[in-house]
Amino acid sequence: MKDIVFNTVIHSLTWDELDDRQRQLINEAKAMTRNSYSPYSHFRVGASARLANGVIVKGSNQENAAYPSGLCAERTCLFAANANYPDQAVEALAIACYAEGHFTAKPGAPCAGCRQVMLETEHRYGRPMQILLYGEEETYIIDSADALVPLGFFAEDLPKK
Ligand code: THU
Repeated sequence: MKDIVFNTVIHSLTWDELDDRQRQLINEAKAMTRNSYSPYSHFRVGASARLANGVIVKGSNQENAAYPSGLCAERTCLFAANANYPDQAVEALAIACYAEGHFTAKPGAPCAGCRQVMLETEHRYGRPMQILLYGEEETYIIDSADALVPLGFFAEDLPKK
């Protein structure tokens, strides 16, 4: 037997330790929580993506009475980015969560489905995507979606025909 060990590094930064571009992207994600349509969970999630050309694309979670028809903020944001700017790599993605009258103290953790979409977006452009998870107490920064999806599933895993 041998063990396969995955190494995930999560940088924890205070607000003051973030640089201006990171703070700007997070502020966009925070503002987007106001556009969340979440009458069922009451959990507002905002996301913002900075593209290689400098454009910032934004998204928020969109729920539906038919629950599985809804979509997370990360995916509305990344799909909007990929749909409108298909030739632009996503350099960074920021996420903020708001519930019960305040932003969460701890950073929100993206669901597994969103991590899979982050992974494919990153590999599609061949550039690492920085992921910023905002929390009132600390912000987590992960240097690449690869780090969030050990044993990732890729197009190469599908049959050729
Ligand atoms: N949600 C997101 O938008 N992103 C995540 O990564 C986790 C969950 C949303 C989906 C749903 O609208 C609400 O939060 C509760 O799960």
